[in-house]
Amino acid sequence: MSSAPLAEPITKSIPYDRGRHPLEYPIGFYRDVKATMRKLYRRNGPVVKIGFPPLQMVHLLGPDANQLVFQNKDQVFSSRLGWSWVIDHVFPGSVMAMDGDEHRFQRRIMNLAFKKPNLVRYLDHMNPFIGAGLDRWRPDNHFLFYPHIKQLTLDLGCQVFMGADLGPRKKKINRAFMDAVEGSIAPIRMAIPFTGYWRGVRGRKVLMDLFSSMLPQKRQQDTPDFFSQFCHSVSDSGERFSDQEIIDHMAFLMMAAHDTTTSTLSTLIYALAKNPEWQEKVRAEARVFNKPALSFDDLAEATTTELCMKEALRMYPPLPSMPRMTTRAVEFSGYLIPANTLVSVSPVHTHYMEEIWTNPDKFDPLRFAPPREEHKQHAFAWVPFGGGAHMCIGQHFADLQVKAIMHQLVLRFRWSVPRDYEIPYQLVPIAKPKDDLPIRLERI
Ligand code: HEM
Repeated sequence: MSSAPLAEPITKSIPYDRGRHPLEYPIGFYRDVKATMRKLYRRNGPVVKIGFPPLQMVHLLGPDANQLVFQNKDQVFSSRLGWSWVIDHVFPGSVMAMDGDEHRFQRRIMNLAFKKPNLVRYLDHMNPFIGAGLDRWRPDNHFLFYPHIKQLTLDLGCQVFMGADLGPRKKKINRAFMDAVEGSIAPIRMAIPFTGYWRGVRGRKVLMDLFSSMLPQKRQQDTPDFFSQFCHSVSDSGERFSDQEIIDHMAFLMMAAHDTTTSTLSTLIYALAKNPEWQEKVRAEARVFNKPALSFDDLAEATTTELCMKEALRMYPPLPSMPRMTTRAVEFSGYLIPANTLVSVSPVHTHYMEEIWTNPDKFDPLRFAPPREEHKQHAFAWVPFGGGAHMCIGQHFADLQVKAIMHQLVLRFRWSVPRDYEIPYQLVPIAKPKDDLPIRLERI
């Protein structure tokens, strides 16, 4: 990796790609992000500045760039300054937008809720709700997968994150979440009625009121949900969360878990509809378990599902890119990146680099299996969960939830899409199908 302290003068200045017209890149990112990233990289190489003041960004492209930023050895890349302008208004106090000691402190306590005994309890708690949720799905030639899976993961979230069934409030809370997530990327940051930002702030208030009202009871009970674990987690040195920290972490965690897992399941379902031979392999694997739901110990055996999930995450990473702000000047690949520069690393670019992946546009789960193991060519080649100190804390939970749902889904249903169907993919705030992913769903 070619990053070095600033001992020698650096001659190369960062290429500034203004595009053929001011909207070339914004429109390109909206229409086809991977083609646009490829174009940027081919035209400019691994470091390129785009945009116009005040919204300029330096893209750092490729696995070496991911390594430099995620490892963040000299603490040059601030997550706080990178993320806070995006999410602070609606998700303040989130662990993702913290740096240094504050981040380490919060993450240490949060980690306790993700230890294996808790994961086992979450899975056992979740399994019956997965079955009941899927039993409510009605086969249809035009079944909109995305809203159905979003509702299912929200219902599971209420159980596993809050330990509660929201009953009639479910719709309102679902709306509040969607508004808060959309509000986090609203371009106008003023609470003008009916704007995205205004809805986001209102959504946040609904969530805060909900968590505050539940907190006293949660402090008293030990139940198999994140809320309860956050209330009772005490680190080895006696640290615990304050009430406000619990509320902030709950709101962010539910958002981070819910939309990313929904995105992953949607693209996995799409990929398995386009590649029915892989759908049959996943189903055959599920049948071998010969049980309606997976236990924690079964998860490691679901290897075909895992390969397909990895490949879906390669092709459609729910967080296609991640921002950071430089706190000091830093060198990468011979370029000087000044202090206070907004930079971005892009899994969605690295995941399609022809230098790493054979035929990257093809859904090919075996690329992750021995002997090929293409992802092992570089420790930062496959980065849907990021890396370093901020690496996704919920990675194992996501793996568990996707496998648990897929197992019960393939045993109940078979699905397909027309041969010429291509998923229209919306990237921000979190990747999802623009058309709600219509599939033909049949009961088996
Ligand atoms: C397939 C599903 C998921 C994907 C692709 C994903 C992706 C990511 C990525 C890329 C980051 C790093 C962001 C950065 O470095 O700027 C992250 C952080 C985080 N994720 Fe996930 N995530 C997923 C599921 C979950 C789940 C299920 C949870 C919780 C149960 C969760 C909780 C978090 C939290 C709390 C952070 C912040 C960690 C920190 O900053 O220390 N994620 N996630």
